[in-house]
Amino acid sequence: MAQLVYGDKEYQLNAGETVLECLLRHSIEYPHSCQAGVCQSCLIKSTGQIETAWQEGIQETLKAQGYFLACLAKPCHDLKLLPPLANECEVNAQILSLNKLNHNVLQVRLSVENLMPWTPGQYLNWVHPQGIIRSYSIANLPMQDGFIELHIKLLNQGAMSQWLQKEAKINDLIKIRGPLGKCFYFNPQKLNYDILLAGTGTGLAPLLAIVRDALSQQHRGEINLIHACLTNQDLYCVNELKNLAAFYPQFHYHRCVLKSDSGPSESIEHYILGYMSHPKNLKVFICGPSEITHQLKMKAFCAGVPSSQIFSDAFL
Ligand code: FES
Repeated sequence: MAQLVYGDKEYQLNAGETVLECLLRHSIEYPHSCQAGVCQSCLIKSTGQIETAWQEGIQETLKAQGYFLACLAKPCHDLKLLPPLANECEVNAQILSLNKLNHNVLQVRLSVENLMPWTPGQYLNWVHPQGIIRSYSIANLPMQDGFIELHIKLLNQGAMSQWLQKEAKINDLIKIRGPLGKCFYFNPQKLNYDILLAGTGTGLAPLLAIVRDALSQQHRGEINLIHACLTNQDLYCVNELKNLAAFYPQFHYHRCVLKSDSGPSESIEHYILGYMSHPKNLKVFICGPSEITHQLKMKAFCAGVPSSQIFSDAFL
């Protein structure tokens, strides 16, 4: 049976077990979230033999330095593990502002040294001072705005939410990792296609960034953005989106409230079908919790949108 060496201790791997599962079974509180190779919070490195399947989606520079995802790795050989080094995979950032966008969404703006690699719609990992890692989507155009904006849902029990509400201050220095994810606008040939974006809650953040990016690059096709929420109080950025829709004739903003107090209640699954009249000339972007994201992707696919034209980063 293969062994892991971490710190000054050795740990026996069970058959079929991942590196992350082995560390957690031995009560090592290694950072993790999705356990599915998506969030990259379980990043770890080794000087030993690494399989490319364990490095799915991580940056080339980190791959070359021996990094991999502990939740994907099922080694059949002994492996010496090393924790991530801050100077190799983390970037310094500073909190510029903290503003509530509604009753439970906090807008956080960060200054970051080099904004070049940060693409609107991708996400970053915020490394909490206690080692907790959380993923948040970029909601703006970093290069154009000069900062990175995040929309963070405040949870009663969330460690990061509690820290942000009770301790975080303007000018605090923090650590981030990234950029991560494949959900962004990319149209170097200026092709003319329609875009449908659908998101729930703070799934709006990356979609707003993609809309702003597409509009700033003079995208010519129709752009429909659907923001779904449970109640009217959960909506946010309404005026900003209405203003964009008033200024750009090709952009249309739709609100979809499941338990509306001012109109008919609507479900986003039914709602999006109305915007798929030309599915072969459509790109679909979907963001939000994993279950609803999966359902909406299936709806789009069943309506005739090729899977290669459906982009999503589920929140896990
Ligand atoms: S816990 Fe490994 S990638 Fe999310």
